[in-house]
Amino acid sequence: MQGVFITIEGVEGSGKSTQLLRLSERLRRLGLPVVVSKEPGGTALGRELRRLLLERHVSGETWCPEAELLLFYADRAQHLETVIRPALAEAKIVLVDRFEDSTRAYQGASGVPESSLDRLNDVVLRGLKPHLTVMLDMDPEGSLQRVEVRNLALGSEYAETRFDEATLDFHRRVRNRFLIIAQKHPNRVALIPARNPVDQVEASIWVRVAPLLRSAGFGVD
Ligand code: TYD
Repeated sequence: MQGVFITIEGVEGSGKSTQLLRLSERLRRLGLPVVVSKEPGGTALGRELRRLLLERHVSGETWCPEAELLLFYADRAQHLETVIRPALAEAKIVLVDRFEDSTRAYQGASGVPESSLDRLNDVVLRGLKPHLTVMLDMDPEGSLQRVEVRNLALGSEYAETRFDEATLDFHRRVRNRFLIIAQKHPNRVALIPARNPVDQVEASIWVRVAPLLRSAGFGVD
């Protein structure tokens, strides 16, 4: 039996973490072997990189888009080698919060050309693709409002406000890039409206995940 690689993508505040938790709990209740991880930050190196990437405003220096890109890819390379590939080799179901599509959407919106991403993918991904990408789609006006409420509840010192301070315009471009990816890869990407009630979003995700797991030989009935 082969492992199954599922990624979850979307703008901040689209409900990725909630849905990832629900999906992983459902799979565990079914007794299936699940590994849950995220980018950036799925390894010890990744957690250091994540801290840098999310707190970089502290240094006051503007990073060039390529420097930022390479840090995300350093995180990804380590994550693939030490977490994702080994888990897939052990026939696990690997659920990852953000992956390559986030780089295409965010760093693409920051001006990194597609050709640079393609070349890095040749080195780091080496042909590995998610079997399914759950893409939670939401307008940034709504999603950033959710993020504001969340960050207020966590207190103003919360480091992960760094990306949320970017302009609404940036987030609109990020969302459009996600939509273009979904259009380009309709078989891999399940585009799911994230404004719907949480239970409904969960059900829409399951409609896509269950047949994939069944076809990979996992019992989900
Ligand atoms: P995170 O707190 O994980 O955001 P969220 O909870 O919304 O997923 O922060 C990850 C941030 O990093 C998010 O703003 C998206 C950004 N990011 C990139 O810009 N490029 C990437 O390749 C990845 C994986 C994330």
